Amino acid sequence: MICLGIESSCDETSLALVKDGGLVGQVLASQSDIHALFGGVVPEIASREHYRCMGVLCDALLNQTDIRYRDISCIGVSRGPGLLGGLLTGVAFAKALAMTCEARFLGINHLHAHLLSVGLEHDLTFPCLGLLVSGGHTQLYLLESPSKLTILGSTLDDAVGEAFDKIGTLLGMPYPCGAMFDEIAQRGKVDPQLFPRPYLKNDNLDFSFSGLKTAACQLYLQRLHERFANFHFSALPHNVPYELADFIASFNFAIVDTIIVKLKRALALFPHLKTLVIAGGVAANSMLRKEIARTMEDSGGRVLCPSKALCTDNGAMIAYTSWLLGQDGFHHSLDIPTIPRGTPIPEDMCLSAIV
Ligand code: KG4
Ligand code: ZN
Repeated sequence: MICLGIESSCDETSLALVKDGGLVGQVLASQSDIHALFGGVVPEIASREHYRCMGVLCDALLNQTDIRYRDISCIGVSRGPGLLGGLLTGVAFAKALAMTCEARFLGINHLHAHLLSVGLEHDLTFPCLGLLVSGGHTQLYLLESPSKLTILGSTLDDAVGEAFDKIGTLLGMPYPCGAMFDEIAQRGKVDPQLFPRPYLKNDNLDFSFSGLKTAACQLYLQRLHERFANFHFSALPHNVPYELADFIASFNFAIVDTIIVKLKRALALFPHLKTLVIAGGVAANSMLRKEIARTMEDSGGRVLCPSKALCTDNGAMIAYTSWLLGQDGFHHSLDIPTIPRGTPIPEDMCLSAIV
């Protein structure tokens, strides 16, 4: 089965082809430079860029592989959650193409695709636990099969990547700040007492990062702002003053430590689950990867994470998820709605004969 995957939920337009469970090719146009000028993604600009790039990228993808439009048997597209204008661009394109190519159509849950994409590079087995950490989401999942993912806990306020981005922006880093935050954190000295670990005095698997963000904001304004307000964060952050680097390392640690507490709680609730899948942009965070690996090892389990290139939004994860669901005989009818952020994604897939 040859699957085309289309991603346009935020600020990356990306299309990929997966054949027999393996990635054949991928194209990607990132808008992050444009949105960096505004300190965050501007939805109208994002939609226009997706609209401008979609067709051109699709032709480019097919040109770089030996696959022709008529060879495509399944077309999957990020159906939500995300920014509505961008999603609509991708979904309309995918539906039209599915009709033209007479291919199976699938509207893919973008968040599920992040988690399932580890199967492209690792032997993913079910059931397992999943941790999704991105700019918009922080969620723990139970994955029973490619089509059965249940949320065990999520953030009540800010997503973890949002916390990195907001504090990074306050410090003067270019947006998105997570990667630079990570880089600088590795050079700083962690003070484990500097920041609180928010929302741990409960017995659930939910997260809350707004209190930590407020604490960091106040501390920065009290102790560092006067001296470092004009500090310029260059692309290669070697020259960061040690007080700033230590602040960044300690904030990074407080976030990672909080996630680890909840992860250990999930492992205690599901002791038979030995595999954890991590995904989303923040899964690229070095300390998070290290601490999660240690936690899973201590519990006799393993962690699977996509390579850094697959952590950010990409078409490969959509193509691969479409392939998994298509293999299991699922499809969507062409009249399914596109789902913006904040609206639950309905379970409306149909089962049909496998192509
Ligand atoms: O999954 P993603 O590419 O986009 C969505 O949010 O859907 O995640 C982007 C987020 C941003 O908040 C970015 O700052 C963060 O991931 N990020 C990181 C790292 N690389 C990207 N956060 C921490 N450490 C990193 N190395
Ligand atoms: Zn994403």
